Parts: sequence; C-alpha cells; structure tokens
Amino acid sequence: MLTVRDLEELRARVAGWRAAGDRVALVPTMGALHAGHMALVEAARRGGTRVVASIFVNPRQFGPNEDLARYPRREMADARLLAEHGCDLLWAPTVETMYPAGFATTISVAGVSEGLDGAARPGHFDGVATVVAKLLGQVRPDSAWFGEKDFQQLAVIRRLVADLDIDVAIMGVPTQRDDDGLALSSRNIYLDEGERARAVALPRALGIAARAIGRGESPDAVLADAYAALHAAGFVVDYVELVDAETLAPATAPGRPLRLLAAARMGATRLIDNVPVESA
Ligand code: PAJ
Repeated sequence: MLTVRDLEELRARVAGWRAAGDRVALVPTMGALHAGHMALVEAARRGGTRVVASIFVNPRQFGPNEDLARYPRREMADARLLAEHGCDLLWAPTVETMYPAGFATTISVAGVSEGLDGAARPGHFDGVATVVAKLLGQVRPDSAWFGEKDFQQLAVIRRLVADLDIDVAIMGVPTQRDDDGLALSSRNIYLDEGERARAVALPRALGIAARAIGRGESPDAVLADAYAALHAAGFVVDYVELVDAETLAPATAPGRPLRLLAAARMGATRLIDNVPVESA
C-alpha cells in the first residue's frame, strides 16, 4: 500500500486506476484506526473497487476546548492495518497541503447541522463539511463510505453532496461495537478501566429506550428514564433525542423512520451513539 502526501501524486495514481477502468472508493478518517474503520474499508472493497483511505486530523472540526492536541496519532500502525485490509492507497496530507496560506472557504450545511452535536459543538459540522468537500474534490471517488456511528455527520454529508451536485455515492455502514455493546471509537482509549466499564450504560440505555418507544411507550417518559440511567452511571448528558432519521428534526410526523441519538461525557471523554427505533 502506498502512502501519499502530495496532491499531484494522489491525482496521478487515481488517474492511472481510472485509465485501467477501475472504480475508486474513498474512506475518510482521522486515524487511530480500529475495527469500525476497517468495516468501512471492507465494505468499500466489496465492489471490487480501488480503495483510498485518508487520514487527516482536521483542525477545523475541533472546538477551542476540544481534544485536537491530544487526539491519538499513530500513522505507522494505521498504515499496517489498512494494508492488511486491502486498502490500495493512504492519503495522508499535511495541514499545509489541506489549508495553505490564503485558504478562505467554509462550507456550512444548514438544517441537519444545527441541532444535536451541531448545537453542542458550534462550528464542528462546518469543519467536517469543508474537509469532506475537499477530500471528495481531491480523490474524486465513485463512492465514499461513512459510519452510522456518526449519524448526524452522515446526514450532513448526504445533504452536502446533494446540494453541491457532487457526483459520488455516499454509503453508510452500521456501527461496529465491542462485545459489551460500546460503539468502537478512537476516543475510547481515553477511558480508564472504571470509566470503560460504566460507559456500557450508553448503548444499554439507548437500546432499552428504542425498544420501549418501538412498543409505543411515551417518548418523553422513556427519554427521561434513559437520561436518569446515564446520569446514574456517571455520565454528564449533552442530549438524548428522538429525531426523524432523515431530516434529524424532532420526531413529530407519524409513520416516519425514527432514530435515537445521544451524546454524553464520561469524565473528560465525550461519547456519542445512536440506534434505529423500529416499531414492535
Ligand atoms: P473518524 O472519527 O476517524 O471516523 C472515520 C469514519 O469511521 C466515519 O465515517 C465514522 O463514522 C466511522 N466510524 C467510526 N467508528 C465507527 C464504528 N464503531 N462503526 C462504524 N463506523 C465507524 O468521522 C471522522 O473521522 C471525521 O469527521 C471525517 C469524516 C474523517 C472528517 O474529518
């Protein structure tokens, strides 16, 4: 597997594949890769396409009090893992390549970006939309693969490519979880042993709440119970919300697909998770 840091070289490699008739898939990441990321690489490969994974810890999507400086960086181990999973090329640009002097554009997706994590992390989705638009312009893939773990991010990216007529298929992959149900995340390494044990309350509370709502119980009461369970486990809850799975607006219209999303902090570590709500 090649590691490329220069945009001209990236374009030449991808052009070579295209000339040979290959299709190209992109898996954007910030590194510290785990089995959740590998599920994206494997799904992307299944169509017999060339796979480009990107690793770029994007400063524009971190708030001033967030974990940019301490975000885990381990490109050697990541490259090994990607190669083992059949990735063809690692695109690992520098901050100067992505944001050279004079860079002046921000992409802001209204609506889907505004509630939930958008409200808790001002500017976060502008940073995500801007960097994903750049990555799509750099690689020009046929498909780009994202995890449902970051459900709002996936909705923002779908809106972005629809609104800007970017010719790429956006593909979502279900959340990969540890044996106890905790969603895999690069940030899980911040949890100490006790925090890691208590963190399982997050997927548990969401699962219980989704089943209760699916059975027809009152969402307000169910969400209050979920909030209390998270609090009892030691979480500081940012939100637990039931939303329309496509617009991410508060769920009100009957018959629409529903999704339950939560963000909560365990000590210094902020975790997010979400589950579908299916009628029983
Ligand atoms: P990162 O957090 O590294 O995640 C990269 C991709 O892996 C995202 O699409 C995310 O949803 C997916 N992913 C992470 N954990 C997962 C899990 N447990 N199961 C399934 N998929 C999982 O998300 C980002 O990076 C950045 O915001 C990025 C899109 C790269 C833009 O900078």
